[in-house]
Amino acid sequence: MSLLDTLGIQHPIFLAPMAGVSTPELAAQVSNQGAFGSLGLGASTVDAARKQILHTQELTDKPFQVNFFCHESRDLNSEISQNWIALFADKFKELDAEVPTSLNRIYPSFKDNDDFLNLVLETKPKAVSFHFGIPHVHQIKALKNAGIITLVSATNLAEAKAIEAAGIDIIIAQGIEAGGHRGIFNEIFDAAIRTEDLVQLIKQNCTLPVIAAGGIMNGHQAKQFLNFGADAVQLGTAFVQCKTSSANDAYRKALFDQPLTQITASISGRPARGLINHWHKEVDTPTRPQVPPYPYTYDLGKQLHAAASQQGDSGYGAFWAGANVAQIRELEATDLINQLVLEINVD
Ligand SMILES: Cc1cc2nc3c(=O)[nH]c(=O)nc-3n(C[C@H](O)[C@H](O)[C@H](O)COP(=O)(O)O)c2cc1C
Repeated sequence: MSLLDTLGIQHPIFLAPMAGVSTPELAAQVSNQGAFGSLGLGASTVDAARKQILHTQELTDKPFQVNFFCHESRDLNSEISQNWIALFADKFKELDAEVPTSLNRIYPSFKDNDDFLNLVLETKPKAVSFHFGIPHVHQIKALKNAGIITLVSATNLAEAKAIEAAGIDIIIAQGIEAGGHRGIFNEIFDAAIRTEDLVQLIKQNCTLPVIAAGGIMNGHQAKQFLNFGADAVQLGTAFVQCKTSSANDAYRKALFDQPLTQITASISGRPARGLINHWHKEVDTPTRPQVPPYPYTYDLGKQLHAAASQQGDSGYGAFWAGANVAQIRELEATDLINQLVLEINVD
């Protein structure tokens, strides 16, 4: 059976799951147009995730995927944590905000307990994808028994091989151009492979379907990746500007006004590509102390962004975007899918 038939979709186009940007409306628009909608639920509580899935199911009877984070939960070293807080203490004071005294693990990994697994089994979306790693054996088994298709992001061949060996159904090949967090399993090792090379490398060495993700902004580029052997393409940045995303006004404006990106681990504790702002220009200096683990670092990052935003400075936002953001177009999700399909099918 072809990938499109397996997933029950018409077009080889996936909306990237985007925690903090995904909405049920955006997912449903994409799925209703014959592509594969998604919800990024990695930063949601179980109750909030349930609401989003049920709402999406009200808005579409077409298939969509949900997405969770599968990072290894790390312990927090108090010296690293205090050094990190100290680096921002003056900034918090300047903003009339309280300096954090500790860093909190603001959300768990899918692997930490079975709450999210049980939610997926209860609500039965067509597919579930994972970032930062592979779920436990018992979790994969339970999803398979329920007939739910599984996907995991790979950023190099070793990760792709591990995904295949674990019995996952589909590999998402996330190249270095991709917006948002790098899906790397080990946060201190990144092979930084271009999407184009990664797709070919995985296609040559693995048998699973491969979805190309990273730097794809239009159907001409999508077609190139399909020609390289990708079974479908996944686009994130191109959809952030859609009215139905939950991106705020400052983020939307910056996408068009300052379309330059860089990777930093300072915002969350894991490397992620976003629009260049205070983090890249002022925090990522050669003397920067060691970053605490994900998601503890994100706790401070979010507090700093909230405090600075209150004073009208949006420069500490996590404005994730891919390397080709300068090619972004202002299009509603429905029109964007139609346009992508037209461009893919042009001779
Ligand atoms: C705003 C934003 C948020 C993202 N959040 C997630 C996420 O929650 N889970 C995930 O697996 N990938 C996430 N990603 C990465 C995407 O899955 C995908 O790899 C990336 O968007 C592809 O590159 P592009 O942005 O150049 O299209 C995010 C990307 C962006 C732009």
